Amino acid sequence: MKNIDSYTHTRGESIYLDDIPLVEGTLFGTVYGSPVAHGKILSLDVSEAAGMEGVVRVFTYKDIPGKNQIGGIVPDEPLLAEDEVHFNGMPVALVVATSTEIAQAAVKKIKLEVEQHTVVTDPRIAQKNGSLLVPPRTFKLGDSATAFSNCKYVFEGIAETNGQEHLYIETQGAYAIPAENNSIKVYSSTQGPTAVQRHMADVLGIPMHRLEIDVMRLGGGFGGKEDQATCWAIFCALATYHLKKPVKYCLHRMEDMRMTGKRNPYTSDFKIGLDADHKIIAYEATFYQNGGAAADLSPAVLERTLFHCTNSYFVPNVTATAYSCRTNLPPNTAFRGFGGPQGMFVIEAAIAKAAEELGITAAEIQQKNLLKNDDEFPYGQKAASEAGACWQKATTLYEIEKIKRDIAVFNASHTLHKKAVSFMPICFGISFTKILMNQARALVHVYMDGSISVSTGAVEMGQGVNTKMLQVAATMFSVSANRVKVNSTNTYRIANTSPSAASATADLNGKAVQIACEKIIERMKEVAAGMLQCETTVISIKDEKVFISNEPSSLTWNELVMASYLKRVSLSEHGHYATPGIYFDNTKEKGHPFAYHVYGTAITTVTVDCLRGTYEIDAVNLVHDFGTTMNPIVDKGQIEGGLVQGIGWMTMEEIVYDDEGRLRSNALSTYKVPDIYSVPKELSIHYLETKNDNLAIFRSKAVGEPPLMYGIGAYFALRNAIKAFNPDSNIGFSAPMTAEKVLLGLYSSKNAG
Ligand code: MTE
Ligand code: HPA
Ligand code: MOS
Repeated sequence: MKNIDSYTHTRGESIYLDDIPLVEGTLFGTVYGSPVAHGKILSLDVSEAAGMEGVVRVFTYKDIPGKNQIGGIVPDEPLLAEDEVHFNGMPVALVVATSTEIAQAAVKKIKLEVEQHTVVTDPRIAQKNGSLLVPPRTFKLGDSATAFSNCKYVFEGIAETNGQEHLYIETQGAYAIPAENNSIKVYSSTQGPTAVQRHMADVLGIPMHRLEIDVMRLGGGFGGKEDQATCWAIFCALATYHLKKPVKYCLHRMEDMRMTGKRNPYTSDFKIGLDADHKIIAYEATFYQNGGAAADLSPAVLERTLFHCTNSYFVPNVTATAYSCRTNLPPNTAFRGFGGPQGMFVIEAAIAKAAEELGITAAEIQQKNLLKNDDEFPYGQKAASEAGACWQKATTLYEIEKIKRDIAVFNASHTLHKKAVSFMPICFGISFTKILMNQARALVHVYMDGSISVSTGAVEMGQGVNTKMLQVAATMFSVSANRVKVNSTNTYRIANTSPSAASATADLNGKAVQIACEKIIERMKEVAAGMLQCETTVISIKDEKVFISNEPSSLTWNELVMASYLKRVSLSEHGHYATPGIYFDNTKEKGHPFAYHVYGTAITTVTVDCLRGTYEIDAVNLVHDFGTTMNPIVDKGQIEGGLVQGIGWMTMEEIVYDDEGRLRSNALSTYKVPDIYSVPKELSIHYLETKNDNLAIFRSKAVGEPPLMYGIGAYFALRNAIKAFNPDSNIGFSAPMTAEKVLLGLYSSKNAG
C-alpha cells in the first residue's frame, strides 16, 4: 500500500498549518529574541514597537497569567525572559500585529539593555565550572578498571560530533482561535499535542480541558517538534487569551534556525581494551553533552547515549559516564536517534583507532565482537540479536571480497583519487527510555454506513504512520482500505498522548487501534451469531463478508454493521495499550527498558578526490532487520531518508556558533544539507525478514530512527580513503567530515610537530 498522503502531497492539496483558512480578524505574532547570549537584563523598552500602526500589543513575561515555565523534564526554562538571558535568540517579548510584516518591523524597534556575562559554548568548560543540567549518570557492566590491566592492547582518544539543524521543510508554528468560555483551539505543528496542552495550561493558568490542540500533519519534525513546538503554540494562545482574537505565528526560516535547539553536539573521551584475539574486553567512555541553556529533552537524550554506547557489540566490562552540560546555546533537543548516534559514533571511533594502531581493518574487530543472543547490554537487558545475521547477509549478498578487490585495483591505478569501504552495524532499542511514556490510545468508530474512522495519538510527520494506522484498522476488520479514514490528532479525541517519537509511534498507537478493533469485532460477531443462529466462535469477518466456520454466509459487512446498530450494540471503542514487560531501575541503572532492538549492517564505499578534498558516496548496501514489514514502500522511504540525513550529519552539515554564542550558519547559504547529488549513487536495501515473535505492531519493527545511524559509515569510509592516500595522515575523530577537513587530513602528518 502506498502512503495515503501521496496523492494530495503530489497535488499540493495536503493541509499543513499554513494552509488552514484564516478566520476573519486573525492577528500575527513575531517573537523578539535576545541579541546576546548571556547576561542580566537592565531594561526592556517596547514603547516604540507598541506605538507602531498595526501593532495590537506587545507581551512580556508580565502578561503571563499562570507560570512562566515550559521545562518538560526540569523546570528551568521560562517562556519569556524575566531578568536574565541565557542564549542568543531567547524569547523576550511577543509582538502581535495585523500582519506578519508589521510584527517583524516592530520587533526591530524593541530595545534591550543587557549587562553581559561570560558566554560558555564548550561543554567541557561548562562541566569544569560545575554547570550541569542534571547530575551525571554512569552505566556499568563488569569491572572495566581491572579488565584493562588484563588487556593486551589499550587505546585512548577523543571523539566529537557536531549538532544538526532539523531543517523540517515546515518551520515551527501555530494558530490559536478563541472559543467560548475561555477555551482555545490551537492548531500546532507539534509531535507532542499533549505537551503543548499541558504547558499551555500551566502558562495560562487554566485547566487542560479548555485547550483543544489539533494536528493534521507536520512538514517534518525529526525530533525538533517533540518539545520545541510548544513555546510557539503558547505564544499564540497567550495573545488569544488576552485579545480574544485568533493569532497565528509561523516562523521565518532564519528565526527558526536561530531560536530553536538542534541535535546535541558531544565531545567524548574513550578508552578501549582488547585481548590478543581482538576481542573487546573493556570499554570506558565519558560523554560531554552540549545541552544548551535549558534542560529541554537533553537529560533523556543523554540516557539514550548511555543505552547505545556499545552499539551492536558485546563488551563484558563497561563504564560509561555522561554529563549534560549547560551552555549559552539554544536548548538542544531530540533529533532522530535521540543521543544514540552520538554514543555509537564514539565506540566506532574507538574501534577505528584500535584497528589503525593494530594495522588491521575495523571490520575485523567489529565482526568479532557483534552481539549474540543473550549477551548482556550494559543496562542489564539480554539481546535477541540479529547483528550477526545482518552482517553475514551483507558480506555475502554484496560480495565484500569483490568490493575490496575492486577498491584495491582502483587505488593501485589512481594516485589522486582513492576509494575505501566501511562497515556500519547498528543496534537501536525501541521504546521510550522513560517507561511511563510507553502507552497510547485510539478511538475507533464504525459508522452505520460501514465506514470507519480512526483517531489516535500518532502524529503524521511524513513517516507514514497514518498509513500504518489505516492498515491496522483495515486488516483487523478485513475491509477495503477506502472504508477507513484516519483523523487529525486532537486532544479532545485522544488524551494524555506521548509525543510521536522514539520510533515507537506505530507500535504504540497501532496496538491501541488493534485493541479497539478487536473489541468492536467481538461485539459484531455476537450479533452475527444471533442472526445466523450459530456459535460466536465459528464466526469470522473476511473481505467484508461474514463467514461461518470459514464458509461464506450471505451476511455482508454493511448488513452486519447496520444490524448491530439497530440492536443498539456499540460500534465505537477506545483502545488503550501499554507496552508489557519493560522496566528500568534508575538507582541501579539496570532493567529491561526496550520492547526489542532493531539491527542492521551497512557497507559504504566512497571516492575521495585527493587534490580537492571533495568526495562522493559511491554506494551504500545494507541489510536491515524489519521483523516482518507491514509496509515495504513506507519503510523503504524511512531507510532512504534516515540514511541520507545521517550522511548529512556525518559529512557536510556544519553548525557554527561564534564565541559570543551567535549562530553563524544561520541560513541555507551557510548550512549545507544533503541534496539529490549527495545521495549514494547506488543504494541497495535488503529486507532481513525474521520469524521470531516481537512486540512490534504486526511484527513490523520500528524503522523511523535506526537507519540514520547507517550514515556513520560514511564518516569512517572517508577516513579510510584519506588513510589510503596518506597512511601517515593525522586525523582525529571529529564529525562532520567536511570537504575542508578531508583536504586538511589528506596532507596532514603525525610527525608534523
Ligand atoms: N520521517 C519523516 N518523513 N519526517 C520526520 O519528521 N521523524 C523521524 C522518523 N522519520 C521523521 C521521519 C523521527 S525523529 C522519529 S522518532 C520517527 O520518524 C517518528 O515516527 P515513528 O515513531 O512513527 O517512526
Ligand atoms: N526517544 C525519543 N523521545 C523521547 C524519549 C526517547 O527515548 N524519551 C523521552 N522522549
Ligand atoms: Mo524522534 S528524535 O524520537 O522525534
